[in-house]
Amino acid sequence: MVKIIAIDGPSGAGKGAVGSMLAKNLGFHYLDSGALYRLLGLVAVRHKIDTGGNHNLTRLAENMDIGFEVRADGDNRVLLEGEDVTRELRTEKTAALASQVATSSQIREALLLRQRRFAKAPGLVADGRDMGTVVFPDAPLKVYLTASIEERARRRHKQLLENGESVSLRALEEQVRSRDERDMSREASPLVAAADAVELDTSELSVHEVVDTVQNIAILRGLM
Ligand code: C5P
Repeated sequence: MVKIIAIDGPSGAGKGAVGSMLAKNLGFHYLDSGALYRLLGLVAVRHKIDTGGNHNLTRLAENMDIGFEVRADGDNRVLLEGEDVTRELRTEKTAALASQVATSSQIREALLLRQRRFAKAPGLVADGRDMGTVVFPDAPLKVYLTASIEERARRRHKQLLENGESVSLRALEEQVRSRDERDMSREASPLVAAADAVELDTSELSVHEVVDTVQNIAILRGLM
């Protein structure tokens, strides 16, 4: 059986940094499910399709031509229709588009199988908003990461600066807050901790400390 570790939580809680390091340490595959929603948001803009989740966008969710590459230097690149969109993917504008397309239940349904196809031996670390509740409900380890809104906005701010995007911290806090609200209040697969998830507040913890904690639980559960 493929061992799955599901990591969910709001923006800036540390899912991406923790999930990718954990996958590397364990030799597992890694799914950044947010990237799929972001890619679909980009596709919608490119093909001038309304992000409201109409039939054409649902078809694209099933068929869009995407690729995830790990370069020799360990750098992760994301391709859309053959073009490297890694940088564009990480902007706050793309995040907002993703959160809009993510409200449609048809689109979520269309992306469900694509996400499940990432589950391959020996295991998968999957991060997102509904990994433990909807996509991999039988995952033997579910983690729900949180952090204070100030800390999450600060982390996003640092990531955006590294990506060459300058946004004021205060404006970003508002954007993160409203994206979280939309993600938590939507009808289709809202962001919520699975009943059997281990909840961790990462506000005061480093990425290494969170990874160590999750790895210790994974050992106890016989996942490594
Ligand atoms: O994780 P990331 O910030 O890249 O996600 C961007 C947006 O995609 C989220 O705000 C959320 O609306 C949506 N998303 C989702 N379900 C997931 C992953 C992301 O709805 N599993």
